Amino acid sequence: MVAIKVENLVKKFNGFVAIDYISFEVKKGELFGLLGPNGAGKTTTINILSTLLKQTSGYAEVAGYDISKDKNNVRKSIGIVFQEPALDNKLTGKENLEFHAMMYGMGKEERRRRIKEVLELVELRDKGDVLVENYSGGMKRRLEIARGLIHRPKVLFLDEPTLGLDAQTRRHIWEYIKKLNKEEGVTIILTTHYMEEADFLCDRIAIIDHGKIIAMDTPERLKDKLGGDIITFEVEKDSDKFMNEINKLDFVKSVKKHNSKLTIMVEQGEKRIPELIDMAQKNGVKVKSVSLHKPSLEDVFLHFTGKTIREQEAGQKERVRKSMRRFGR
Ligand SMILES: Nc1ncnc2c1ncn2[C@@H]1O[C@H](COP(=O)(O)OP(=O)(O)OP(=O)(O)O)[C@@H](O)[C@H]1O
Ligand SMILES: [Mg+2]
Repeated sequence: MVAIKVENLVKKFNGFVAIDYISFEVKKGELFGLLGPNGAGKTTTINILSTLLKQTSGYAEVAGYDISKDKNNVRKSIGIVFQEPALDNKLTGKENLEFHAMMYGMGKEERRRRIKEVLELVELRDKGDVLVENYSGGMKRRLEIARGLIHRPKVLFLDEPTLGLDAQTRRHIWEYIKKLNKEEGVTIILTTHYMEEADFLCDRIAIIDHGKIIAMDTPERLKDKLGGDIITFEVEKDSDKFMNEINKLDFVKSVKKHNSKLTIMVEQGEKRIPELIDMAQKNGVKVKSVSLHKPSLEDVFLHFTGKTIREQEAGQKERVRKSMRRFGR
């Protein structure tokens, strides 16, 4: 059963292409991640699928309903936790939930029961009567997740669920997200630019960059596709000749240069390091450091884009700065 179907979705903002013909499907009960740097188009995708924004072209359905023709049914079927916090700080946790439940037209008794349930689910039952302004960042995020669940949505959108939270609180939130998905059977689509979050949580991920899906699979398969081990050499000076020599070796699958780092994909990495260091010396290349690791999602991203996710984000910020300058700000 398909929970979400997206076909050739495009979104342009005054000619700027934010979403560039993306297509994917999310199965019922799946935990699906959109992983990408700042400005990749993750929030835009979520906003279109939750009917807050109209697509320029393309088709999508959520819980079996066409997002263009059947907005009301889409809205009834989904819960959403926004990237920007959207709680009323001057109300208590319960009051925030109450307000939301009323908007969904839930009766008094049902509201009371459901508020109790969702507060228990995110372990905030003792905090229901506390003003939200006295909540910690992690507690606020959990309350927002509870609010997104109040009307028992089939599909839950989580836009950067752990952005800005400390490592320990993030882990905590990950546990809730897993629990919701596995125990309550909610289909979840989340966005993140934390590689390890996508790796830990998601059954499948789409890596998105400049509005395009550049890779899509289970985290394991994406990493396996790169194959073997990754040896990273930090080198001094010109290493082009060395690179060419390495490329000729049988056991080397690929070599990429990135600033002063050479990323070498090999089979049985631990055995190959001495040979590669020898070769560097013969080519007069001074090696400053060597590391060996299994491919991570960061390597997958680097493989497909030639950049790390951080560099991509820095590039996005620079583009924003330039366009602001153009508008004389
Ligand atoms: N309302 C808008 N008007 C003009 N441009 C927009 C608008 N909303 C988004 N964009 C642009 O579309 C691109 C994608 O933005 P989006 O918010 O979807 O990115 P994102 O992947 O969610 O990034 P982040 O990780 O920073 O949240 C960006 O370049 C952004 O500046
Ligand atoms: Mg976003």
